[in-house]
Amino acid sequence: MSRDVAVDRVDVAVAGGGLIGLGIAWRCAQRGLSVTVVDVAPGSGASYAAAGMLAPVAEAGYGEERLLELCRASLASFPAFVAELERETGLEVGLRTAGTCVVGFDADDMAALDLLHAFQRELGLSSERITAREVRRREPALTPRLRGALHVGGDHSVDARALHAALLAAAMSAGVRVVRAEATALEVRDGRAAGLELAGGDVVTAGTVVLALGARSAGLPGVPPLPVRPVKGQVLRLRDASGLLEGTVRALVRGRHVYLVPCAGDRLIVGATVEEQGFGDTVTAGGVHDLLRDAIEVVPGVAELELVEALARPRPGTPDNAPILGTSPLPGLVLACGHHRNGVLLTPVTADAITELVVTGALPEVARPFTLDRLER
Ligand code: GLY
Repeated sequence: MSRDVAVDRVDVAVAGGGLIGLGIAWRCAQRGLSVTVVDVAPGSGASYAAAGMLAPVAEAGYGEERLLELCRASLASFPAFVAELERETGLEVGLRTAGTCVVGFDADDMAALDLLHAFQRELGLSSERITAREVRRREPALTPRLRGALHVGGDHSVDARALHAALLAAAMSAGVRVVRAEATALEVRDGRAAGLELAGGDVVTAGTVVLALGARSAGLPGVPPLPVRPVKGQVLRLRDASGLLEGTVRALVRGRHVYLVPCAGDRLIVGATVEEQGFGDTVTAGGVHDLLRDAIEVVPGVAELELVEALARPRPGTPDNAPILGTSPLPGLVLACGHHRNGVLLTPVTADAITELVVTGALPEVARPFTLDRLER
């Protein structure tokens, strides 16, 4: 007897049921393709820890102008993406449009904020330099010890867990099958990707396999070498924060970075560490201490909140911090991984671009700078 027991024979098999994998699956199903998503616990990876910031301008990085363009394209399509999801599923995903305040504490922080502001203006991005008094008018919970701030009105946030729940519901109602099993290897036949092997020996055979396994993308046996590595982030969730903050606050606290994102009614997310130490989801005393110390310094009222969750997940890092989108050296295998700090934000643009590639064979212009070969050159 063959060891292959075909669970499915589909047009598209997606390895990974996080935000990226489900977004692609949903869009592919809407285009009439049969789709199976394979994930032992959909949404339990980086999507589960994500704070949900949609903040390409506040997070603009020097030398990352191409990534910024991709992020802005995705932000522009977010409201319609969310509206469609909410309409189709009846589920709310908590899109907040109050903007982002970026605050600083000492002269060095303010010099860094001024440089960031100059860079944003050079790129034609909308960002306003405001005083400590002005930022506290917007966010009265902020400490009076601030030196000044930027206000980025167009940077938003979303409840990443609610977004995942809605995408799962939308994908399934569009006909996507979700197989809750571990993908143990890429099935390769006659020099092309032909499906996914599952724990237990079953195989989902497919015309196209989409790799959306986040930080684990490079580790799936059969996948060609990929420069995707885990970058650990620890994050905290606190309760009873309703009304504390209107929008996202990012802070430079004497050179240290912290962000606070209001979410899901009365929750506040505080993040995040950035640790290059391989896989591992250990929450450390030092990580929690640093996040709480800085968050309380920025918003003293955080000290009164209930700490309900501390968790760590690996972000999928790449050498240039940008995702890997498009075809791979292996025919039949499409890459949608390496979204690093921008997985939530880049969900709509990735879903649309990868679906277009799968359906038509052509990667849309907006995604072309992000193919694997840029990292191989
Ligand atoms: N985008 C937020 C983070 O990676 O921590």
